[in-house]
Amino acid sequence: MSDDILRATPESESELAFEGALRPQSLDEFVGQQKVRRQLQLLLEAATLQNRAPDHILLAGPPGLGKTTLAMIVAHEGQRPLRMTSGPAIQHAGDLAAVLSSLVPGEVLFIDEIHRMARSAEEMLYLAMEDYRVDIMVGKGAGATSIPLELAPFTLVGATTRSGLLPNPLRDRFGFTAHLEFYEPAELHLVLERAAVLIRLDIDTDALREISGRSRGTPRIANRLLRRVRDFALVHGGRADTTAVRAALDLYDVDEQGLDRLDRAVLQAIVERFDGGPVGLSTLAVSVGEEAETIEAVVEPFLVRTGLIARTPRGRVATAEAWRHLGRQPRSAPADDL
Ligand SMILES: Nc1ncnc2c1ncn2[C@@H]1O[C@H](COP(=O)(O)OP(=O)(O)OP(=O)(O)O)[C@@H](O)[C@H]1O
Ligand SMILES: [Mg+2]
Repeated sequence: MSDDILRATPESESELAFEGALRPQSLDEFVGQQKVRRQLQLLLEAATLQNRAPDHILLAGPPGLGKTTLAMIVAHEGQRPLRMTSGPAIQHAGDLAAVLSSLVPGEVLFIDEIHRMARSAEEMLYLAMEDYRVDIMVGKGAGATSIPLELAPFTLVGATTRSGLLPNPLRDRFGFTAHLEFYEPAELHLVLERAAVLIRLDIDTDALREISGRSRGTPRIANRLLRRVRDFALVHGGRADTTAVRAALDLYDVDEQGLDRLDRAVLQAIVERFDGGPVGLSTLAVSVGEEAETIEAVVEPFLVRTGLIARTPRGRVATAEAWRHLGRQPRSAPADDL
């Protein structure tokens, strides 16, 4: 499954276990996202000084950038117990009521993928976040009554990859929203340096630089590529140097800019078959033998972010950078101007 090596979502149970072992436990160990780190630090320290539960926190950003890690850090830094659940696990208001009513004072409640929670639960959450209270409905029809239930003060940490899908009333009830950004290569370098020590891999600085450049700004991917390089060095008995990195990542079809086989197939199709575009999404999908949704959700965001393709009202176009990436001269009127 070489095609999955660059996906930002976790690939397997064993990867999740590996990630757990590499998770930074404190804000000081957490690499990059300096602004968010300082904002969180302030919020947590203020709460400690006032001896109260920290404000509710929303962590928004693409997969693999450290949302779950930060949620655990929030609990760990304040030495607070942590309860973890997720939006899809909360199908009814009752599911949420059960969780909320069993929280202990000061507990951190982490709801991952919070945008996928049931609507009825969302409404219960509004009141819980604001007043540490829920109204439990008892009975049905005309005889139904609601019984208020006091909750222990808690801190909600919500994570979402799709903050646009959160209803405004929910978004507004978070005291602080952290927007996680993709990491710079220099930051990924630090993530990798730390991970290499933890997995006891002796690896050259140049080799780490080579991996960070191919990791698509995502710590999860960086750690995954590091693991493949470790395997390669282990099996081939050599040093984990730049040569090993190139050989290992070539084997998995990851190129210097972090493009995989499908990414390159899409670029090649636009440039070679459609003379740089514009080409419509469905035509493009057919020409590389993939679903249009996969192209749109999985392939395009990274190609657009790195400036290799652009989306125009008339379709997708390859930029001059894309032509060069494929080792070709950009055509005379570069697509960048479209
Ligand atoms: N800033 C960081 N410093 C060091 N390691 C990091 C950092 N951010 C993430 N990681 C590592 O990357 C991996 C993925 O991070 P995490 O699980 O927190 O991502 P996520 O944002 O919750 O992803 P998802 O949206 O898929 O749930 C973890 O192994 C973690 O150790
Ligand atoms: Mg997560």
